[in-house]
Amino acid sequence: MSHHLNKKIVDFLKEYLDLYGPDTYLDEKHVEYLQKEKPTVILTAPQKSEKMIMRDNQKSQSDEKPDTTLWNFMREIQECAKCPLHKSRTKFVFGDGNEHADLMFIGEAPGADEDRTGKPFVGRAGKLLNKMLSRININREDVFITNILKCRPPNNRDPEPEEVKECFPYLHKQIELIQPKLIVALGRVAAQNLLNNSASLKNMRRQKWEFKGITLIVTYHPAAILRNMGLTDEAQEDFDYINKTYQNLI
Ligand code: URA
Repeated sequence: MSHHLNKKIVDFLKEYLDLYGPDTYLDEKHVEYLQKEKPTVILTAPQKSEKMIMRDNQKSQSDEKPDTTLWNFMREIQECAKCPLHKSRTKFVFGDGNEHADLMFIGEAPGADEDRTGKPFVGRAGKLLNKMLSRININREDVFITNILKCRPPNNRDPEPEEVKECFPYLHKQIELIQPKLIVALGRVAAQNLLNNSASLKNMRRQKWEFKGITLIVTYHPAAILRNMGLTDEAQEDFDYINKTYQNLI
């Protein structure tokens, strides 16, 4: 295969992985191809130039955030090394938003953009989440957004049970400190871990669940909508349901 074509395929797969994040589906042929052709590009965390690292570090969340219980908790745990993901991460992604939020969104794990910036849902999935929020007149600044895992799994693979086990207490503490009135689980991985079940996403949507006494609703991960635009209408209906429930709770 020509070098040019090879580069094009690798670039495409890189973009695909960035776009679809934790929901990336690669069939056996893709995996075989990647392993054979360009293992270092896809299968290891991207290398940062010094300039990029300096720019990323200029203003970290630690500098920006006030001296309050939630943000001090972030400072306490951001050097976490409890699981092997700390070795490949660029940044620990604690979560971001309003520490007094009534509405909390929980995704799966940071993707490439989140790993680089230290902020949750800033890539293409995040942009779609912003759109869905503004459609129901909710400001992103008023909610809190975080993930099940605080560090990016290599190649955006699914979180391992051991990683979830180590990271989950952080999420518990965040929920305890923020005390939201409504939690929204974005996607199957968040929903199954929060509800401790193995139900399909379709069967979990459009009903009220409970997590530690807090109402919880399950909807699609925005990356799944990007991958399958046919889900847009259902996702919008989910967000209308989320909004209606939220307005009744506050
Ligand atoms: N996908 C997630 O689940 N979380 C993020 O923060 C970004 C993409």
